[in-house]
Amino acid sequence: MGEVPALDVPLITPYKMGNFQLCHRVVLAPLTRQRSYGNVPQPHAILYYSQRTTKGGLLISEATGVSDTAQGYPETPGIWTKEQVEAWKPIVDAVHAKGGVFFCQIWHVGRISNTGFQPNGQAPISSTDKMPTPQIRSNGTDVARFTPPRRLSTEEIPQHVNDFRLAARNAMEAGFDGVEIHGAHGYLIDQFLKDQVNDRTDKYGGSLENRCRFALEIVEAVSEEIGADRVGIRLSPFANYMESGDSNPEALGLYMVESLNKYNILYSHMVEPRMKTVGEMAESPHSLVPMRKAFHGTFIVAGGYGREDGNKAVAEDRADLVAYGRHFLANPDLPKRFELDAPLNKYDRSTFYISDPVVGYTDYPFLDETIHAQVK
Ligand SMILES: Cc1cc2nc3c(=O)[nH]c(=O)nc-3n(C[C@H](O)[C@H](O)[C@H](O)COP(=O)(O)O)c2cc1C
Repeated sequence: MGEVPALDVPLITPYKMGNFQLCHRVVLAPLTRQRSYGNVPQPHAILYYSQRTTKGGLLISEATGVSDTAQGYPETPGIWTKEQVEAWKPIVDAVHAKGGVFFCQIWHVGRISNTGFQPNGQAPISSTDKMPTPQIRSNGTDVARFTPPRRLSTEEIPQHVNDFRLAARNAMEAGFDGVEIHGAHGYLIDQFLKDQVNDRTDKYGGSLENRCRFALEIVEAVSEEIGADRVGIRLSPFANYMESGDSNPEALGLYMVESLNKYNILYSHMVEPRMKTVGEMAESPHSLVPMRKAFHGTFIVAGGYGREDGNKAVAEDRADLVAYGRHFLANPDLPKRFELDAPLNKYDRSTFYISDPVVGYTDYPFLDETIHAQVK
């Protein structure tokens, strides 16, 4: 059995994403790992990200808080203080040293929080004052507890748009190549986008145009700050995590990508409709293809992909790049394994979110040299 020539593996072909020359199309999806003690990135993240770096590979960081009201999970990193920016630098340097391209995913959880995560025990902020019902966390055991959110007044919104701008500036200061605005999965931006959550009557609620205003103001501010050629956004119009569904996801997704075209941002990163929850797949009649066709920039897809359907998505031009979450978490050398069609390590869900600096984090094995030899 000869080594599969790279040309037969669509995922392992070069792609020019704006000014970035990528050597393959296997992207590290943003993955919250809850190992950033006190909201500060830790030295063990240097090894974690560097293990997953390849020359000309795109990595997206775990969701990173834009301000002191942005958190809703323990030990998640931020990028609003000098200390956090300094702590990101050696991690970014390590990715660059191996030739990787590194984007920082910037987020605000909005109402997916409680007073315990907020400064001075204040209420979490949101588009609404409706509280989500308690949810089983993705680890399958813990229950996320929420406290009633406070609906932002119209006048307060620009200050939160500005927090994303400052976070993007800080990400540049830390050395990142760009930022991905987290507009997916029921967090603050999605709480404005989706009509199941957004019950506002001001210019940020009601019509599609109004519900998308907050997201697009953030896109505009961040693009002005660091250049649209360094800006991506993640959207999940079809998902309804944390009670964030929409009555017309197709129209929402299309309106967003068409509006994004006006800002000329680098990429749109869309979560597949089949991802019913963060960790589960379900059959869906919907497709991202209309959005792919409408969007002028790089189109990244994610959600439940393996080697075969990732190759197919690229070969059929349904995506430029494919982001992998759980497989990349468990296979630090995922692009190599895809190139060789080598077997994959299984991921261990029970260690996704534990705070251990090694276990379930940097201890997944690389492709064994003997397997490597067999494939050749
Ligand atoms: C442990 C874990 C953490 C995640 N953290 C984030 C995150 O920080 N930001 C985000 O946008 N999505 C997050 N996701 C969703 C993934 O990026 C991805 O969309 C999802 O896992 C589906 O892709 P997959 O089937 O390749 O795993 C997370 C998923 C997992 C399993």
